[in-house]
Amino acid sequence: MPTRDTLLLGQVLAFSDDPFHVPPAEAARHFTHGGVLIRDGMIVEVGDGATLRQAHPRAVIDDCGNALITAGFIDAHVHYPQTGIIASWGKQLIDWLNSYTFPEEMRFGDPAVATETARRYFDLALAHGTTSMASFCTIHPASVDAFFAEAQARGCRVVGGKTCMDRNAPPGLSDTAQSAYDDSRALIGKWHGQGRLGYAITPRFAPTSGPEQLEALGALWAEHPDCLMQTHLSEQLPEIAWVRELFPRTRDYLDVYEGFGLIGTGAMFGHAIHLEGREKARLLETGAALIHCPTSNTFIGSGLFDMAGLKSAGQIVGLATDTGGGSSFSMLRTMAAAYEIGQLRGTALHPAQLYWLATAGSARAMRMDDRIGNVRAGMEADLIALDLASTPAIAQRASRAETLWEALFPTIMMGDDRAIRATWVNGQKLAD
Ligand code: GUN
Ligand code: ZN
Repeated sequence: MPTRDTLLLGQVLAFSDDPFHVPPAEAARHFTHGGVLIRDGMIVEVGDGATLRQAHPRAVIDDCGNALITAGFIDAHVHYPQTGIIASWGKQLIDWLNSYTFPEEMRFGDPAVATETARRYFDLALAHGTTSMASFCTIHPASVDAFFAEAQARGCRVVGGKTCMDRNAPPGLSDTAQSAYDDSRALIGKWHGQGRLGYAITPRFAPTSGPEQLEALGALWAEHPDCLMQTHLSEQLPEIAWVRELFPRTRDYLDVYEGFGLIGTGAMFGHAIHLEGREKARLLETGAALIHCPTSNTFIGSGLFDMAGLKSAGQIVGLATDTGGGSSFSMLRTMAAAYEIGQLRGTALHPAQLYWLATAGSARAMRMDDRIGNVRAGMEADLIALDLASTPAIAQRASRAETLWEALFPTIMMGDDRAIRATWVNGQKLAD
């Protein structure tokens, strides 16, 4: 039995271009009384609501009133196992990892912990309007199984990978070059390309992977080039100094990854705050993506990412929470932090740029911009309806707005999960 079409009615925001490359307001299309027609999990038409209604009289109507229908948020770098330690006080990166992160990730030796945390994480992500993400798991293969099983049950398009570490990690949280290769390979066979699931080969970062492990993972990526690769790069200055000690013969931090084939299109480097000129040039040349994690960068005290400089050079950049290093599950809070970091560097990012980063930009970084991250015919129907007056403080500011951007910006700066009025994953509306 064919399912009936669904027609969502409301304001609609879609992007036709990258707002860092064309004047921001010209990169977006805004329908004040728009419609999005959904069939079998896909967006089939976007346009004027009344016109679509007339053309599809049998479609089931879902009227979102004055809410803004957009693509669901895409969190391009998150650690689902760190859900329970979000907002842990007082440490910078290396101490934070040793004090909070590693003990928590150790608990994932128990598959029941992984299953329960994955469920809690997806509940939170979806409540915040995040319909896709790229997540680190722990070194335990069962943590990857739990993540993918939960994503599959929810119908989400996600990327995940076993986090590999064979040195400078506690014994209970270490693998080897061989077991990292074998386990990752088996997980690729089990999950990669199953429905909406994709695998990312995941060395945690240079300090916790020895040369042999990095080489093994580089070889694995060469064998599976359609997988993504995710890791961390140049987040804090003491970390960079440590990498220089551990790999004294490399030119810079990126060179460690480069030397083992861990660079190129499909590579996603989290943070990338303190980059040298050579690193920026190589990242650009090879088509690798950088993932900006602004709430994490302020929370852990890492530094100020150069969004304006990198984007104007043509660098691919996605946006992410990096929870639990990040201090919020909300991509709205994340956009607000990106705005504030931009201001501290002297550039006020336009609301169109912020929203693009949280949707189409992250999709591009994950090599999925032909499927998710925008409201366009032929895309998968992962959508949210955003309430632009979700709190009294936001409502009183938005009520004075004369343009969409003025109406949206208070929600970007002050909004959270209360602004998410409805969410659709693969065309299915989630229960409230
Ligand atoms: N660098 C290596 N591991 C991590 C992590 O879990 N979080 C953050 N923010 N940085 C890292
Ligand atoms: Zn991270």
